[in-house]
Amino acid sequence: MIGSNATRIRTLALKSAPLLALLALLAGVRALPAPPDQPRTTPKKDHDRDFSDQPHRSPIALAVSADGARILVANQTSGSTTLIDAKSARVLDEIKTGDRPAGVAISRDGLRGVVAHWYGGDVAILTLKGDKLAVTGRTAVGPEPRGVAMTPDGKTAYVTVGVANEVVRVDLETRKVTGRLTVGREPRGIALSTDGSRLLIGNARGQSVSILDARAWKVVKTLEIDGDNLRQVAISADGKQGYIANMKNRRFPTTRGNIDLGWVLGQRLTRVDLAGPDNFDTLSLDTQGKAASDAHGVAVSGDGRIIAVSCGGTHEVMFFRTDLKRLPWRSNSSRDLISPELLHKDGRYQRLTLGGRPTEIVFGPDSRTLYVANYLADAVQVVDAESARLIETIPLGGPRALSLARRGEILFHAAERSFNQWYSCNTCHSDGHTNGLDFDTLNDGWQDLSTFHQKSRKKVPTLRRVTKTGPWTWHGWQTSLDDAMVESFTKSMQGPRASSDDVKALIAYLDTLDYPPNPYLEKDGGLSLAASRGRAVYRSPKAACNTCHGGPETTDGKIHEVGLEIPQDRYQGYNPPSLRGLYDKDPYLHDGRSKTLRETLTGDHSADKVTGLGELSKEELDDLIAYLMTL
Ligand code: HEC
Ligand code: HEC
Repeated sequence: MIGSNATRIRTLALKSAPLLALLALLAGVRALPAPPDQPRTTPKKDHDRDFSDQPHRSPIALAVSADGARILVANQTSGSTTLIDAKSARVLDEIKTGDRPAGVAISRDGLRGVVAHWYGGDVAILTLKGDKLAVTGRTAVGPEPRGVAMTPDGKTAYVTVGVANEVVRVDLETRKVTGRLTVGREPRGIALSTDGSRLLIGNARGQSVSILDARAWKVVKTLEIDGDNLRQVAISADGKQGYIANMKNRRFPTTRGNIDLGWVLGQRLTRVDLAGPDNFDTLSLDTQGKAASDAHGVAVSGDGRIIAVSCGGTHEVMFFRTDLKRLPWRSNSSRDLISPELLHKDGRYQRLTLGGRPTEIVFGPDSRTLYVANYLADAVQVVDAESARLIETIPLGGPRALSLARRGEILFHAAERSFNQWYSCNTCHSDGHTNGLDFDTLNDGWQDLSTFHQKSRKKVPTLRRVTKTGPWTWHGWQTSLDDAMVESFTKSMQGPRASSDDVKALIAYLDTLDYPPNPYLEKDGGLSLAASRGRAVYRSPKAACNTCHGGPETTDGKIHEVGLEIPQDRYQGYNPPSLRGLYDKDPYLHDGRSKTLRETLTGDHSADKVTGLGELSKEELDDLIAYLMTL
């Protein structure tokens, strides 16, 4: 447990080791040499300690104070928050704040910060005093918070809570939750208009954005935007427009032809009118032959002239200039590929390769300096958006050499490992989990690709604990995880074959993926009364869930025909999926046909359908679901 007198990890601005790692990333991820040993001086003081043996920081989000002097950075894998002095581009302080920081905000005066912890389920309230950071409070907000915004006066925070599908309001003075509003599925990105009146929320798995009146504290509307994997959102300084970085699932099988036409999936910049009609506009980001992948960050300059989008999979930022000539927005739909007029090199559109995995981005007050959290480079990068040039890389610290698992993590996020760099493993298995969508990755033996087969599509399975839940694929025909990796590269990604080193590295990374703490267990880690009754139902002869979903991973590793087979499939029967973390695996069953657990267990996978011994009573089902939520 991390308390307010948190452990301090002071870092020396030692630039060489992470920079070398970054250069290696820029050079491509196939062969990553360990950086050579650096000459070192003996550390004199505690804060001069060499951090070469310290954890990867993996910055995922950042915030800049209104005067542009201070930057706060949320470091996902080190559980810490870093304070940077923007002028000298130096790390001033770093403290442990909680389990998997995911979002961060800073008050206008630069004296207070808030960081949301994805696995920790809370926000830490930070005080900035001179060059020092301290945790001065903590508020539990609910399961899997990721995005956070703060009112200009620094008194209130708004937090998106992914599993609860809620936006939570926190009074930062009393440290109490003062309101909860339900939005769409898995809210992540959040932005507050400069005047503090409007909130824009990106529902990552909801194909929608929610617009909230922050003062009246109500949802004004939820807009369908026909996009998936919604990440960062931003609001223009005049408060009129909202911007979203997102993907779009186009639903065609993963053949090279489909991929290159933009028919499997593509990246989008989406724009919504915060006060106007219920329209949305898009710019497609993919160039044929050199696509964009994993649109993640979005930022608008204060003067509205530049919109920046970061793409984690293709290691770049893109700039769109609004002051030169109208941008070719497409209304209420999107193009397969980028508009050809943007390729005319009239300055309206530029790409800048940064290496690593650029995630959230934010403009400084001068409307041209863009700060980029670069997760895989363990650094914050400073970019001049006006000239589209990298100015500086501020290393946050990390180990000297890349571990096997980190090399696997780099591969997992690398779009150049797919055909014409259209996507990465992370596009579908978002953060090692699932984006809740279904795809036809040519994995189930359907041979006829001339027509569009809805039925051959499979829901993206989570990869949490996947190294322990063989056999693999929904049908369970794949008995070797090594072979499964090779297939993921050649079939799902249509990219180059993976070497045995790649496979080892990826599996080492997959081995690190685990579920967040379960929010439905009692405080002592036990079951509620309803859940204990549900456990008895689970093991009863009538339901017999434990016969197939048994053992430590809730799967028996065998193949069962449970009435969901399709005659055209080469493989019949399915491998019972692990039921761990079920509350966040919706939609359910191999093709995602059931939206909720109740629908699954009263519909195509009811007790009677699997045991033939009759249906459960309403009470039995309620208890069973209460139990399933705790797995
Ligand atoms: C276009 C989306 C997509 C991409 C990209 C993708 N996958 Fe998958 N993945 C799927 C789907 C869909 C399945 C289920 C396939 C099936 O069961 O037939 C799957 C299955 C898997 C499985 C088996 C999981 C289990 O529990 O049985 C593993 C492991 C896996 N993918 C890893 C990867 C890796 C590693 C990459 C990158 C090299 C990758 N995937 C890229 C969609 C994708
Ligand atoms: C005869 C073996 C068997 C029994 C008994 C059984 N299941 Fe399943 N279960 C499966 C198989 C196989 C699948 C995958 C089927 C598919 O997705 O088409 C599955 C899928 C599921 C899913 C969907 C998981 C996901 O990630 O989409 C849930 C939930 C589930 N089972 C719960 C239960 C519960 C609760 C019971 C007891 C009432 C139960 N199962 C009994 C074999 C079984």
